[in-house]
Amino acid sequence: MHLLIPAAGSGKRMGATVNKLLLPLLGRPILAWTLEAAARACSIEWIGILCQPHDWPAIEAIVAAVAPAKPVQLLVGGATRQESVYRGVEYLYSLGTVERVLIHDGARCLATPALFDRCSAALQQVDGLVAAIPVKDTIKVTESGPKGIQIQATPERSRLWAAQTPQGFRLPLLWQAHREALAQGWQVTDDAALFEKLGWPVYIVEGEESNLKLTTPLDMLLAAQILQQRLVPAP
Ligand code: CTP
Ligand code: MG
Repeated sequence: MHLLIPAAGSGKRMGATVNKLLLPLLGRPILAWTLEAAARACSIEWIGILCQPHDWPAIEAIVAAVAPAKPVQLLVGGATRQESVYRGVEYLYSLGTVERVLIHDGARCLATPALFDRCSAALQQVDGLVAAIPVKDTIKVTESGPKGIQIQATPERSRLWAAQTPQGFRLPLLWQAHREALAQGWQVTDDAALFEKLGWPVYIVEGEESNLKLTTPLDMLLAAQILQQRLVPAP
C-alpha cells in the first residue's frame, strides 16, 4: 500500500512560529512519531510526505533519524491540505502503477501500525474508507438567530462518527474526484468529502480513540501523556 502524509501546514492553531509537526514531543518531532508508526505497519510499502519547501531540510532530517526500512519520498505540498493531497495524488497517478492509496495527516502522530494495517486490508474490499470513532458528545446543528447562535436540530448520536485519518481510496477514483473538485471549486477538509459530493460510497473503519489530531497546545499535553504510557513496559 502507498501512503501519503500531508505535512505541509503551518499549525496556526498551535500558536508556534514553525510548522507544528516540527515541534518536539517527548524528545522528537511530532512528524517522527507519525512516520515511525506508518513505517512499522507491515502493509505500507512506500511513504510520500507532502511538505513546504522551507521545511524540506528539517523533514529530510526526520526521515534520516527514523530511518524507515521502506522508501520515503518528499513531495512539494500546496497552500491548503486539499492542494497538498492533490499534488501527492497527482504524483502517484503519474506513475501509472499504483491502485490504492492511504492518506494520513502528519498531525495524527498517535495512530498505531495496527490501524494502518486494518485500513489497508479493508481497502481491498471497498473504493473508499475513513477511520472514524463514534461521537461521544451530543452534537447540535445551529444557525445564527436574532439573539445569538440558535440550535436547529440534534442529530441522533448513534449515527454520528468523528472522522479521522487514515482515509483510503482507489487511486484513479481519488484522482478523478480531486480533478472534479478543482473544476467545480469545491473546498473540503477531508478527501472522503469529495467522494460524498460525487455520490460514491465511503465506508467506516473503526478508528482509535487515542488517534488525536494535534491541533492546539492541549493536544500536545494529551499526546505526550499517551506516548509516555506506551513507552512504559507492561508489568
Ligand atoms: N496540511 C498540508 N498542507 C497544507 C495544510 C495542512 O499538508 N497546506 C497538513 C498538515 O500539515 C496536517 C494535516 O494537513 O498534517 C491536517 O491539517 P491541520 O491539522 O489543520 O494542520 P495545519 O493546517 O498545519 O494547522 P492549522 O490549521 O492550525 O494552521
Ligand atoms: Mg489546517
